[in-house]
Amino acid sequence: MAWYKIPMAVPLSRRSFLGAAGASAAVFAPSGVKGAPVSEVAARAVSRPLPEFGMSMWDLDTPCLLVDLDALEGNIARLETAVRGNGIAARPHAKTHKCPAIARMQLEAGAVGICVAKVGEAQALFDHGIEEILMTTSNVTPYKIRRAMGLAKACPTFIQATDTAENARALSEAASAAGITADVVVDVDPGGHRTGITPGEPALGLAQLVDQLPGLRLRGILCYDGGSQHVKGFDVREKQTLERLAAAADTAERMRASGLDTGIFSGGGTGTYNVDHQTPGFTDVQVGSYVFMDTQYIDIGGKTNPDIYDDFEPSLTILATVLNAQYAGRATTDAGAKACTINRPWARVKGETGMSYTSGSDEFGTITYDDPSRTYGVGDKLELIVSHCDPVVNLYDRLVAVRGGLVEAVWPVAARGMST
Ligand SMILES: Cc1ncc(COP(=O)(O)O)c(C=O)c1O
Repeated sequence: MAWYKIPMAVPLSRRSFLGAAGASAAVFAPSGVKGAPVSEVAARAVSRPLPEFGMSMWDLDTPCLLVDLDALEGNIARLETAVRGNGIAARPHAKTHKCPAIARMQLEAGAVGICVAKVGEAQALFDHGIEEILMTTSNVTPYKIRRAMGLAKACPTFIQATDTAENARALSEAASAAGITADVVVDVDPGGHRTGITPGEPALGLAQLVDQLPGLRLRGILCYDGGSQHVKGFDVREKQTLERLAAAADTAERMRASGLDTGIFSGGGTGTYNVDHQTPGFTDVQVGSYVFMDTQYIDIGGKTNPDIYDDFEPSLTILATVLNAQYAGRATTDAGAKACTINRPWARVKGETGMSYTSGSDEFGTITYDDPSRTYGVGDKLELIVSHCDPVVNLYDRLVAVRGGLVEAVWPVAARGMST
């Protein structure tokens, strides 16, 4: 049995929980602080029983976040085959799953590293043994920069992004103060103006500065085109992506010609994983959602299927229970906004047609029947394909991994809530 399938079937004792938590320094609760003594934190952490290995997923208490292992493994393998076949690599983004077990699976499948959005995510992954980490967001405050350098000191393979000269100088000073040389990529703007420096002269100048600063080591560039990922229709998406990456490619080529390191040219995501490699010099895709998929991605259409983006299979679902079925045309479940978020398009009932789902109410979801293939009764359970996987995962402490409907493992969402 692979290490990541080791079941956590037996409820943890308080002592073993604290042992496990202590190993990763995940719990901090000063004993004197009002309302959060160590004993209370520990009691809360162990108060919910863990699912038993081998039990049917339909017997799980709800709402519960499930991941189907066959679908998850299939998605990871399919992505790897595709990017390798296109001569590039994957550097999957852990902002989606926040789960060290899945990061480990992605690395074992061949990914060259794992991306994170926040220092907290990076720290959580590192605490669980993941070291090949690239942080795609810049750290701009002195405190955050100190945290990033503390991590870089413990984890020399940690790479961080910068997009201004002022920030690069601050990073260099902090790195020198920490006694390290920190690895940095220049974040280049594809035109969306969310993050990144303007390609061409400004980006080239910043790369030269990073290369010269004593505390930094230039590793290349990143250019994430978020505005292209959910463009409906493959041809339009492909055209827009390649147009918007062209200036970054030109910048990378100019960097290379002037002797600067362009070993990393990272970007892209689930919507463009099979497009980005056409950009000269591009090295790796920062795919996030492909592991789980969601209704936001299903609707964009793919290269072979213009209606449904079925390159990857939905592996992430929320198990919910019907609480009320006594009114015509509708049923109420226990999975509302706190279980599903209020992102759109809404979650969908897996495997069903002719019904829609809304989760606008905090504690309750609503199924509305139009022309249903079936109806649900009180106590019935159903699976929901999530609306947008990243924020849904951030609502759950653990991910129950199932195969053939049986629980095979329980994974902590270790970077859940690590938003700083
Ligand atoms: C910088 C960056 N890279 C990669 C991704 C992954 O995108 P996706 O989930 O669409 O694959 C995101 C998602 O927002 C991102 O912000």
